[in-house]
Amino acid sequence: MNILDKFHNWRRKRRWNKQYKTGRWDSLKSEIESKRYYQIIDFMKKYAVENPRILDLGCGDGVLNKRMDKFNFENFVGVDYSDVSIKKAKAENFPKSEFLVSDIVKYQPEQIFDVVVFNEVFYYIHENEKRNVLNRICKNLSDKAIIIVSIYREGLGVWEYFKENPKLKEIDFKRVTTEIEKTYWKIAVYKQS
Ligand SMILES: C[S@@+](CC[C@H](N)C(=O)[O-])C[C@H]1O[C@@H](n2cnc3c(N)ncnc32)[C@H](O)[C@@H]1O
Repeated sequence: MNILDKFHNWRRKRRWNKQYKTGRWDSLKSEIESKRYYQIIDFMKKYAVENPRILDLGCGDGVLNKRMDKFNFENFVGVDYSDVSIKKAKAENFPKSEFLVSDIVKYQPEQIFDVVVFNEVFYYIHENEKRNVLNRICKNLSDKAIIIVSIYREGLGVWEYFKENPKLKEIDFKRVTTEIEKTYWKIAVYKQS
């Protein structure tokens, strides 16, 4: 990223912080949105190893973790560059979970993961960094690891990074719809090929 990109990145981070402070993203805890989280968890149940080590990139204030109360996992690491959202996630005191303030673009995992989740996040990563982020994450996956990607509607600048990546193979896909017209998510599962 050049200096201008870094400035925009910093501004976006500030905006997320402001929005988490005002409760703008409390909407993610609504009933409508829950279908998306439950689909992600269903994919984990179906394709992840037992008791997986989970990495939630751009975790916000930990809504996915909150929805996982009946799902067993070994540990859960949530990463987000909004310190406001991470503070809220930490305040929940989820068992076996850890939340870190870090930019996905720089984040270097300190352990191996069985599940990596990009839940309504990948389109926010700087275009020049998307490939690097994926490459770095792929180096910290276990043999049977899965990557789950959820995107609202069509999500420009997302799917090509997964579909055209020779290291990844799509193993499942669902379109999660709601009663609200044009409100849907596309959720896909990948594993290393
Ligand atoms: C729409 S919210 C989704 C939050 C969460 N994944 C969920 O679905 O409940 C997008 C999140 O991505 C985070 N984010 C965006 N770009 C990021 C980056 N470069 N590094 C870390 N977090 C980022 C934002 O701070 C925000 O919390």
